[in-house]
Amino acid sequence: MSTPTVVPTKSISRWFLFLLGAATTLITLGLWVSPAAAHVDFLGSTPANVSTVPGPISEVVFEFSGEADPITEDFRIENSAGESIPIRTVANDGDNKILVTSADPINAGRTKVLWALRGADGHKMSGSIVFTVTPAAATAVPAPEASGTPATTAPTSNAVSDGNGDGLAQSSPSPVTTLTVNDSGFAETVGVVARWLVYGAVLLAVGALAYLLWVHRGTRSESRRIVFFIRRAAVLIVLGSVVEWFAQLALWNGDGIGDLVRPAVWGELGSTGFALGTLCRIVGAVLVLRFVAIDVVPEDEREEASVTDLDWITEPDPSGSVMLDRQPPSTTLTRVRVESGPLALLGAALLILSESFIGHTASIEPRALMGVSDAVHLTSAAIWAAGAWLLAATLWRRHRQNEPLNAGLLATRFSVLATWSLVAVALSGTILAWAILEQPSALWESEFGRLLLAKIVVVIVIGSIGLHNQRVLLPALASGDESSEQRFRRTIAIESLLFVVVLLITSLLVIANPLS
Ligand code: HEM
Repeated sequence: MSTPTVVPTKSISRWFLFLLGAATTLITLGLWVSPAAAHVDFLGSTPANVSTVPGPISEVVFEFSGEADPITEDFRIENSAGESIPIRTVANDGDNKILVTSADPINAGRTKVLWALRGADGHKMSGSIVFTVTPAAATAVPAPEASGTPATTAPTSNAVSDGNGDGLAQSSPSPVTTLTVNDSGFAETVGVVARWLVYGAVLLAVGALAYLLWVHRGTRSESRRIVFFIRRAAVLIVLGSVVEWFAQLALWNGDGIGDLVRPAVWGELGSTGFALGTLCRIVGAVLVLRFVAIDVVPEDEREEASVTDLDWITEPDPSGSVMLDRQPPSTTLTRVRVESGPLALLGAALLILSESFIGHTASIEPRALMGVSDAVHLTSAAIWAAGAWLLAATLWRRHRQNEPLNAGLLATRFSVLATWSLVAVALSGTILAWAILEQPSALWESEFGRLLLAKIVVVIVIGSIGLHNQRVLLPALASGDESSEQRFRRTIAIESLLFVVVLLITSLLVIANPLS
């Protein structure tokens, strides 16, 4: 084995930024170009395709990229048995939106809405969306008609539409369903838990790379543990994405386990943005898993040491010598250099990109702004949350092993990143929220709005703790006050736990109904 290649941290940082920039540009271009390329595109709906909304509902809103003339007689609302539900009105609001109102409220069940329109150029388009209405009061009570209420919970609202007029509306009605509300509730819960874990793992995998590059100074074994966390996070992303996919399949038609092996259901789900997002996540995670590796360098790069001290980094090169820290590894603070190479960083960029296909923002205009905001939101959330998790883990480990905490150095370095991340997360989150919520009152009147408020409250608490750390504890740490080290260790642990709560709320947020 040869001596590890020396790549300056700065150049890797540049790679990181370059790849994130490239991914952002690609999303931007992709999202900008696609609506313009077609005549009129289906952008999304409320309720979203493949979503679950609490009943009763009587209005469905379709959004298109241009002026759309609805072909009223082709609109149809069907229940899970394929029976028609009478439509009261199909109205064009003059703002690229079509409002469909049912004569009676839809209280529960899988609901399919078929649409058709003529674009300004006369081109006919049609398609359909499917969503599940859950009974208002009872989530754990079997549906009135034994066949039950199948639920679907993919966060995407991409259309199942061919866009060329054929109307590929592919969720074939399933007259006989065997899923009860309890069953669908179980699959839905599995989906939410899997999404929660995936979000946590995505943030950890991406944020830990940034933490290694820009914050960490520690012993070799600590650095090794961080890489271990990144690898485990990548594995969790793959497993969680697969579980979420199967939960989604089980919920798709309401036929339960049977749908897991039905090619038609795979095909239908496979044509949604959710599938693209899942694919991006898995490929990104595999790249991170395969190519992440780190190297440790002393602050003084000219120093050299015996290769036997580097056993965990790479196989020793019998003929060469490599750089190493001056002191015994257990006590020396070293600088970490990510030797992951561009492919692991590309994997991280793919993980960020994957979220652009999932969630309400996947189908909301302006797409370019949404894509960029989503990428900024996820990247800054990753840097902030994973930084807090790893800082807390590092300090607790040092504390348990009776090592000096050296909290001041890490806290100072993290504080700069955390401040910028807070600003970026809040700005991008506000843009996303503004785009998703139709009107300010939806903030307290809709399920989405209330969850968002809860999320913001928790983020404000985290921000306040961060401010306290920065204003009170950092100066105390700098003055060498040892008790402040212990206080910082505890406050950063509380922040870390609150980030987990934020993620749980987010997993519910992305499938919540933003309509008042
Ligand atoms: C003021 C603070 C924040 C606001 C206003 C906010 C708002 C939002 C909104 C509106 C969405 C889109 C939901 C959807 O697509 O349906 C979102 C997604 C998300 N947020 Fe936040 N958020 C904030 C802070 C955070 C923090 C601190 C974290 C990190 C723990 C976080 C993690 C996420 C994740 C993982 C997603 C899903 C991925 C995505 O769509 O980008 N958010 N947030």
